[in-house]
Amino acid sequence: VYSLKPGSPDVSAFPRREWLAAARRALLAAPSAALDYGDPRGLPELRQALAQYLARARGVRATADRIVICSGYTQALALLSTALRRCGAATVAVESLGLDAHWKVIDAAGLRTVPVAVDASGANTAELPSADAVVLTPAHQFPMGVALAPDRRTAAVEWARTAGRLVIEDDYDGEFRYDRQSVGALQALDPEHVVYAGTASKSLAPGLRLAWLVLPAAWIDAVVAAKEVADLHTSTVEQLTFAELIESAAFDRHVRRSRLRYRRRRDQLVSMLEQRAPQVRVSGIAAGLHAVVELGDADAETDAMARAAHRGLRLVGLSRYRYQPQDDVPPALVVGYGTPPDHAFAGALDSLCSALTK
Ligand SMILES: Cc1ncc(COP(=O)(O)O)c(C=O)c1O
Repeated sequence: VYSLKPGSPDVSAFPRREWLAAARRALLAAPSAALDYGDPRGLPELRQALAQYLARARGVRATADRIVICSGYTQALALLSTALRRCGAATVAVESLGLDAHWKVIDAAGLRTVPVAVDASGANTAELPSADAVVLTPAHQFPMGVALAPDRRTAAVEWARTAGRLVIEDDYDGEFRYDRQSVGALQALDPEHVVYAGTASKSLAPGLRLAWLVLPAAWIDAVVAAKEVADLHTSTVEQLTFAELIESAAFDRHVRRSRLRYRRRRDQLVSMLEQRAPQVRVSGIAAGLHAVVELGDADAETDAMARAAHRGLRLVGLSRYRYQPQDDVPPALVVGYGTPPDHAFAGALDSLCSALTK
């Protein structure tokens, strides 16, 4: 009936009119040559627009020639993994709480993953294992919802610098911070050792399959070669449209509207839980499209999930994101408050509160 599953934005709020208008303007203006086979890095128009947008919105140090447009972060990670493997890498460190789909992508390129512990200050980059690269979610750890502490940001970059290793920064929801200005991209600390990865999956819609990498100079050729083998390049029509959406400022307006909507929803979630489920605690920073709801009792996660299933509410427990089944994590739910359409949000919250009440 309802879903509070994390991972998706409210797709019913996709700016259809603005997207269509941008597609119309972009296609009418584009030369026919733009519809031929294109540059594997992506359209220059989009890479240029993104370089400016990312500098402005996320503090990324980007130029168009460092950007590769990908079909989603999933492909971006696959291309990086292929490039790493080709250059002799064997091991990639990953946060010990995260998405198994991403671990599988790294694995499929013939690399081994090793976990890095995550706590209230983010991934413990002070104790990174021996690996060739590390994948981090510095602005908003997925799923724990904490920001990487300043000393750990520095430690990650130092780790990469000392042995020519690579940090992959997955900035999946960096546009959405509600209590303060977003912490800027880690990439700005060292653009030659940090790859910045962004996606339109949270800010627009996952169905677009649009994402981008900002690469260190040394990694461009290997990633572009992998992209060419994977699919030549990402759809030109989507790229033209997205470039026009950014250039016309319609994208900024949409992000601002979305930020307000999700901020309101997070506030509603927190206050509703305070009233109806005072035994739980919402942890993590006020950001993104999901919140971790800590439940206290050891059995509470399984109980809440069972009650939610009974009521037809889709929920995901924190244990779902463990790197290893034996890893100890607090009983908690990862609540994707971004997912429901506006009209279903109150009902979804009510259903969640009932699932948290015995
Ligand atoms: C942690 C994290 N990174 C990245 C992504 C984006 O992936 P993609 O661009 O392939 O949709 C998601 C989407 O769910 C995510 O949760």
